[in-house]
Amino acid sequence: MLSPKIGIAVLLTVLQVAYGQKVSDLTACLVDKNLRVDCRYENNTKSPLQYEFSLTREKQKHVLNSTMGVPEHAYRNRVNLSISHNYMALFLKDFSQKDEGIYSCDLRASGIPNSFVSKNITVYKDKLQTCGVMSLLVQNTSWLLLLLLPLPLLQATDFECL
Ligand SMILES: *[C@@H]1O[C@H](CO)[C@@H](O)[C@H](O)[C@H]1NC(C)=O
Ligand SMILES: *[C@@H]1O[C@H](CO)[C@@H](O)[C@H](O)[C@H]1NC(C)=O
Ligand SMILES: *[C@@H]1O[C@H](CO)[C@@H](O)[C@H](O)[C@H]1NC(C)=O
Ligand SMILES: *[C@@H]1O[C@H](CO)[C@@H](O)[C@H](O)[C@H]1NC(C)=O
Ligand SMILES: *[C@@H]1O[C@H](CO)[C@@H](O)[C@H](O)[C@H]1NC(C)=O
Repeated sequence: MLSPKIGIAVLLTVLQVAYGQKVSDLTACLVDKNLRVDCRYENNTKSPLQYEFSLTREKQKHVLNSTMGVPEHAYRNRVNLSISHNYMALFLKDFSQKDEGIYSCDLRASGIPNSFVSKNITVYKDKLQTCGVMSLLVQNTSWLLLLLLPLPLLQATDFECL
């Protein structure tokens, strides 16, 4: 049996997670000559998510694809993006040393103040690895979430019984 204090703490954590937005992971790898940037996030809001992928190089920001700003013309033909509920994959065709820099994945829930979240990854051509089977497995973590989910729920239920 949990003490009421712990019960409240657990419940608060559950509530926080339920309303929070978070970029959980940002990774980069190579598929053939193309760069793939994977942005995984928690989408726990009912309102549509706004996003922006950008590259900052030599202190200059280049928007790659965005619902918040206008993508830079030079990148339009080289970039594509696929989106699922909690995952976005950006492809940049023919990645070269000129595309090295800080890649950012920014998210915001429309109409919700202070919901802006962001994550950065610095990409160097020499350090990039080929996208492997592992990253494909990691890509789908919903089964992990399903495994983890019952625990806080059970604890929260425990609190209600007190
Ligand atoms: C972002 O990428 C998607 C998918 O490749 C494309 O359909 C869309 O037009 C792009 N958005 C902008 C603002 O260019
Ligand atoms: C995006 O570009 C990559 C690399 O050029 C390609 O493999 C992939 O099929 C493209 N995806 C879409 C949805 O166009
Ligand atoms: C986030 O979830 C909301 C509600 O489930 C959905 O309407 C929205 O399209 C999702 N956003 C993305 C980027 O998947
Ligand atoms: C990501 O990098 C950009 C460009 O250097 C910087 O302005 C921003 O503060 C960084 N964001 C985070 C979350 O580190
Ligand atoms: C993850 O796997 C589930 C069940 O196998 C599937 O329904 C879902 O579309 C997958 N999600 C992604 C992002 O691949």
